[in-house]
Amino acid sequence: MLVTITDKVTMDKIVSLAKRRGFVFPASEIYGGIANTYDYGHYGVLLKNNVKGQWWKALLQERDDVVALDSAIIQHPRTWEASGHLAGFTDPLIDCRVCKRRFRADKLEDAVCGQKPSKQPGQGPDCDLTDPREFNLMFKTQIGPVADDGSVAYLRPETAQGIFLNFKQYLQFSRKRPPFGIAQVGKSFRNEITPANFIFRTREFEQMEMEFFVPPDEAEEWHKYWCQTRYDWYVKLGIRPDHLRLRPHDPDELSHYSSATSDVEYLYPGSMDWGELEGIANRGNFDLTQHAEHSRQNLEYVDPSGARYLPHVIEPAGGVDRAALAFLIDAYDEDEIEGETRTVLRLHPALAPVKVAVLPLVRKDGQPELAREIVAGLREQMQAEYDESGAIGKRYRRQDEIGTPWAVTVDHRSLEDQTVTVRDRDSLTQERIPISQLPGELAKRLATPWRSPKLNA
Ligand code: GAP
Repeated sequence: MLVTITDKVTMDKIVSLAKRRGFVFPASEIYGGIANTYDYGHYGVLLKNNVKGQWWKALLQERDDVVALDSAIIQHPRTWEASGHLAGFTDPLIDCRVCKRRFRADKLEDAVCGQKPSKQPGQGPDCDLTDPREFNLMFKTQIGPVADDGSVAYLRPETAQGIFLNFKQYLQFSRKRPPFGIAQVGKSFRNEITPANFIFRTREFEQMEMEFFVPPDEAEEWHKYWCQTRYDWYVKLGIRPDHLRLRPHDPDELSHYSSATSDVEYLYPGSMDWGELEGIANRGNFDLTQHAEHSRQNLEYVDPSGARYLPHVIEPAGGVDRAALAFLIDAYDEDEIEGETRTVLRLHPALAPVKVAVLPLVRKDGQPELAREIVAGLREQMQAEYDESGAIGKRYRRQDEIGTPWAVTVDHRSLEDQTVTVRDRDSLTQERIPISQLPGELAKRLATPWRSPKLNA
């Protein structure tokens, strides 16, 4: 029986669970790893796919004013001139001439001196710091075999610019007119100086971005609308409202392109405190103006009355990795069953990597065969997993740790009367139902609005 629900999450526990169960682990481990770079394993891939799937669903399936794009990672280098990234996408850096470490000037209070690790740079008597210098965060590469000035290109630091470059095309073939959005999910790259906190800040990461083009006089209203809509998306998928806030940027925090930005922030455990999950910016017509000037193309929209204007843009820009991390953290729970601590991920079923596990109670008497038949039937409908190895209790724990909401157990009775038990991850109830009703029952449970049991704790 369920005795208590506690909330004992720490980043260390998340990192350890993520590695133990194959969600996320350090990359290039056989070569000793590469700083702050991670690979996603089987369950991590499924989780991220579900996060992205829910994002696409909210934008493409549940409304009809957003269309999709998958643009190239390496665009014409002039893109970054026009967008302001070449000149302005920089961090101020300070070098130590003695220990050769490099620190972000605005984060010096968090940095550790290489000479005296107990001290901060500048406090260590041997530190010899340079003045701050601006360091561009874009990864440079070259196109073609000859490295000269004409071959320089950049890995995109945001997916957003690919959308602006295609705005005109979309006016022609998407049959949409403002207000409408173009959405894109994909990898972005930033040579972050201080990557940190597991997958919170890394050098390559996935973004989910949408540029929503609106008539200029509607921009403020749409900005409010998207702030609330994106906040609600996280809550609907299980993030507890007391761990989530919308924080408007102070004027001195605003990016060069933005007249207003609010961040959806998540309360990460321990010293991480509140951290950005997603930024919702009012970009005005900055980007279209810049690209129109640099490309000498007319990017104006002509409305049905013949009026021409450059639409303004509201941009909800989220990170897949940060969202996945927040969902993992918020789902993490420990409870006690019959004197033993159980670790369980109370993930929203829509996000859970595996929806159902099918387990024969014992590995004989025809139970594995029947269980395999059941799992094969369910695979058409949802991500299902078969597991016959080890004691049943251990197999339940394993599924609890990866957040599987339901476990179907095949026992001796199943062969007699064609029924199975369905165990619920959160309530731990076991319901016996006919095998023939299983697909319908699981579909019904998946479609039922879900509320985290941690909200009642
Ligand atoms: N187009 C606007 C833009 O890129 P941003 O706030 O720099 O805005 C949007 O990035 C989101 O991308 C962030 O809210 C965050 O979720 C994610 N993100 C940005 N840098 C990241 C990094 N180094 N590692 C992981 N995620 C990152």
